[in-house]
Amino acid sequence: NFYSVIPAGGIGSRLWPLSRADAPKFLHDLTGSGQTLLRDTWDRLAPLSGPDRIMVVTGRAHRAAVEKQLPELSDPNVVLESEPKDSSAAIGLAAAILLKRDPNVVIGSFAADHVIRDIRGFHRSVRESIAVANAGYIAAIGITPSEPAIGFGYIHCGGAIEVEGAPSAVSVNSFVEKPDFETAQSYVASGGYLWNGGMFISRADVLLEQLGKAEPELLAGLTELAEVWDTPERGAVVDRVWPHLAKIAIDYTVAEPAAAEGRLVVVPGDFDWDDVGDFASIAKLHSGGRKSDLAILGENARVLADKSTGVVISQTDRLISLIGVNDIVVVDTPDALLVTTTANAQRVKSVVDALKISG
Ligand code: GDD
Ligand code: MG
Repeated sequence: NFYSVIPAGGIGSRLWPLSRADAPKFLHDLTGSGQTLLRDTWDRLAPLSGPDRIMVVTGRAHRAAVEKQLPELSDPNVVLESEPKDSSAAIGLAAAILLKRDPNVVIGSFAADHVIRDIRGFHRSVRESIAVANAGYIAAIGITPSEPAIGFGYIHCGGAIEVEGAPSAVSVNSFVEKPDFETAQSYVASGGYLWNGGMFISRADVLLEQLGKAEPELLAGLTELAEVWDTPERGAVVDRVWPHLAKIAIDYTVAEPAAAEGRLVVVPGDFDWDDVGDFASIAKLHSGGRKSDLAILGENARVLADKSTGVVISQTDRLISLIGVNDIVVVDTPDALLVTTTANAQRVKSVVDALKISG
């Protein structure tokens, strides 16, 4: 009774000008695997739930690109949004539709844009999480933090808890979404905290009940949509209901309150994990952690470099030459060029947002 859900929205403005409104992060190959992150995500999930039990929630504008990446995706498994309403609406709608089709369904939501290479370890952790979900909890997969990153949720672990089939499950004292830097520093220094890996596994009814406590109107809207989803009335109800749904991340509406109520359980991830959120992490991913390398991405990239390190991402065939620059980030696209350093990679989002560079 397990179903995978891939919410594929979000623009990823920390990766501008590579990631754009019309070509978001999940439609790029950031690993050099020759496949987009979305396709990699699908390939990781297919052996777990079966390829006919993966639902993708994405924007109308991405439909063609998503279907090209995932030719196996059947119509009942595509949910299209008229405008992005963040992850509570995206995952909540999938849960409500699947619950209507199967009252006992367990769903796992998995971000479309992460890099995980140890597929067997990933499957072990998800199987344990499914056991946790079957026991009535909401499971989150936790990741051992390597630095006080501010872009993640932090899970304060309690003690081991008894769940059959989930030997590594741990109770959760609290969940804090995106704390400030000082708070993140104190969490990492104290030990006992895990990053939230952006993967939640639970019974669909349990998830929706939790969501409804924080956002009753959102739940009412999602339920109304699910009622008519598999009927010809869908279009009219979407047009009426979707624009008014609350735009809020599921970490606030489900994870934080579920932790406070003792309903969130964490399964520490038994695999490598990278959210490749900025150009510094892409540089690191491709240099195997060594700082002495220059990573070059792009099928037609032409780069001449002398005594330079960092990362070059090229979507053009323009010749790019670097001489004696370290930790450089160069991202060359047909209509926009970004030059910065890996130390400033975190600032790309705020600068791009502040300059209102769009598209
Ligand atoms: N369909 C759809 N529509 N998907 C969305 C939307 C939307 O409006 N907004 C976000 N998503 C998808 C993203 O594509 C991604 O797959 C997932 O929901 C998470 O959204 P992000 O925007 O990437 O969240 P985040 O990275 O800031 O934070 C989340 O992930 C971290 C791990 O990478 C949180 O869950 C954090 O707690 C977590 O640590
Ligand atoms: Mg993310």
